[in-house]
Amino acid sequence: MKKIGVLTSGGDAPGMNAAIRAVVRAGINQGLEVLGIKKGYVGLLEGLYDEMTARSVSDILHRGGTILQSARCKEFKTQEGVQKAVETAKEIGLDGLVVIGGDGSFRGARDLSLAGLPTVGIPGTIDNDIGCSDYTIGFDTALNTVQEAIDKIRDTCRSHDRCSVVEVMGRDAGYIAAYVGLSCGAEAVIVPEKHFDFKKDVLQSIAEGVKRGKEQHLIIVAEGVTKDNISAIDMAKRIEEETGVETRATILGHIQRGGNPSVKDRVVASKMGYFAVELIKEGIGNRIVATKGDDIVDYDILEGLNMSKKLDAELLKISEILSM
Ligand code: F6P
Repeated sequence: MKKIGVLTSGGDAPGMNAAIRAVVRAGINQGLEVLGIKKGYVGLLEGLYDEMTARSVSDILHRGGTILQSARCKEFKTQEGVQKAVETAKEIGLDGLVVIGGDGSFRGARDLSLAGLPTVGIPGTIDNDIGCSDYTIGFDTALNTVQEAIDKIRDTCRSHDRCSVVEVMGRDAGYIAAYVGLSCGAEAVIVPEKHFDFKKDVLQSIAEGVKRGKEQHLIIVAEGVTKDNISAIDMAKRIEEETGVETRATILGHIQRGGNPSVKDRVVASKMGYFAVELIKEGIGNRIVATKGDDIVDYDILEGLNMSKKLDAELLKISEILSM
């Protein structure tokens, strides 16, 4: 193993830069040349890269986003795309690759490994929705960003005796909603993992809160619910119509993906990046680096992709009880 590449793919997440830095510097420490592949798999198809040095990753540990940029690449999802990527990798002399991204990116990592380019995946997504890893890079920072935003929404809610419906990201998962639901004291937390009854879980809960003297209300809804059911805006309208409580909707959107990574994200990203190099330097590919509790572990990519984890139901239960 002489030359490895590193790329970021899918939605960016705070801490990806810390992972890039770790791969570059751990690689250099092992005597490897490291190429930074730009714009995810697009860069691998088109041969867009920078030769990385220890200095190319100076001053990025604390920055959000990804210096290598990211993309979702349709062409790479085809057999021809994977073949073309492997050929480009050969042309630029890559012996191995580290891919930082979500589950879509890992499918690509597996295809590359099977086509002859040993590839290791590192979970980087604010959604925390990788089944084989207790934790994904970016989740903690996103939680803190969402919490800070909701605390501010609370201030204005209190000033006007209003209800706020806040939609948070998470794709098809409710991890962000469930954690901030508890940390922000929401009256209702609606996630895709749990069936919800709008009348009982939202309208009734607000009406009962009003009877108990509540003057402000917070409903957190995961985007995975709104895209298939009722939108946050329609939810707010119905709440206002049926409970008489003035209601506003806020869709937090991409603010959740930005910002300087938290301590946790920098530490986990640095450990995962280091660990990925330990595997790839030995020519070991087709692996996902993951966390199990506080430990860093690794799985066969297919095995990892088929694993699932459960949203902690206690979070929702405790939120409900404490929001009385
Ligand atoms: O996977 C991260 C994520 O931010 C999801 O929470 C969200 O559904 C999606 O990416 C948004 O993607 P895009 O930035 O391409 O609109």
